[in-house]
Amino acid sequence: MKNKKLIIIGGEGNAGIMAACVEDNRKRFGDDEWKVEGFINDYEKTVCGYSVLGGLKDIPILLQNPEYYFMWGIHMIGRNIFTEKLFRQANIPESRFAKIVHHSAFVSDNCELDAGVFVMANSYIGPNTKIGKCTMIMANSSIGHNTKIAPLCHLALGSITGSYVSVGLCSDICMGARVIEKNNVGNFAIAAASALVRHNIPDYEIHAGIPAKFLKRIRED
Ligand SMILES: CC(C)(COP(=O)(O)OP(=O)(O)OC[C@H]1O[C@@H](n2cnc3c(N)ncnc32)[C@H](O)[C@@H]1OP(=O)(O)O)[C@@H](O)C(=O)NCCC(=O)NCCS
Repeated sequence: MKNKKLIIIGGEGNAGIMAACVEDNRKRFGDDEWKVEGFINDYEKTVCGYSVLGGLKDIPILLQNPEYYFMWGIHMIGRNIFTEKLFRQANIPESRFAKIVHHSAFVSDNCELDAGVFVMANSYIGPNTKIGKCTMIMANSSIGHNTKIAPLCHLALGSITGSYVSVGLCSDICMGARVIEKNNVGNFAIAAASALVRHNIPDYEIHAGIPAKFLKRIRED
């Protein structure tokens, strides 16, 4: 089906990048499966030139139109618990999420991408990987084989997540961070920008530096 109506939830950061990806897939790759209908945003009237159709509280009304599909683009680094709470409150059925993959990304045949996953340009996703619901894989990120990423994670620009790694619910591998193979990142946990992770990061903790060490806990609210 062509030109399915896509509503992107969030602001000009992650959500705006999703819109740019849809447009690039249309213009340069002739993929017109999705068309951005507008955004959901509590603060702005337009985002990246697109109309804002409502706020988070309006999602139940928009869900009544069966033509609308959604992408979740809200992810607050350090406020991971709050991000996940907003997502749960939105209560969007799995069947109503789109899945957007930029045409320059390499995604292995036997990789499992759940509903709402976003994969931006020049990313690499190796064999036997599983990417959970509404996880965002931003440009130039790499994910090694046999790695499992839970729902709602954010793998930022240029991050490298090695093989046999598991990343827990609503966690971050920040810009340029590297997670060495066979190490795990917990739930609501963060590998900070440029971190070199050689150990397991426990739930709710931020680890930073080379080699990465405990920096602090994420915010509770
Ligand atoms: C980890 C992170 C969230 C911490 O941010 P923060 O809570 O605002 O932390 P602060 O800036 O207050 O820094 C606190 C301390 O940690 C240090 N620190 C912060 N980030 C660090 C990093 N990535 N590596 C090493 N040290 C870091 C600071 O130097 C500071 O040290 P000090 O107290 O001795 O001065 C942030 O640094 C980060 O990595 N953000 C991710 C950016 C990103 O990937 N964005 C996505 C774009 S696509």
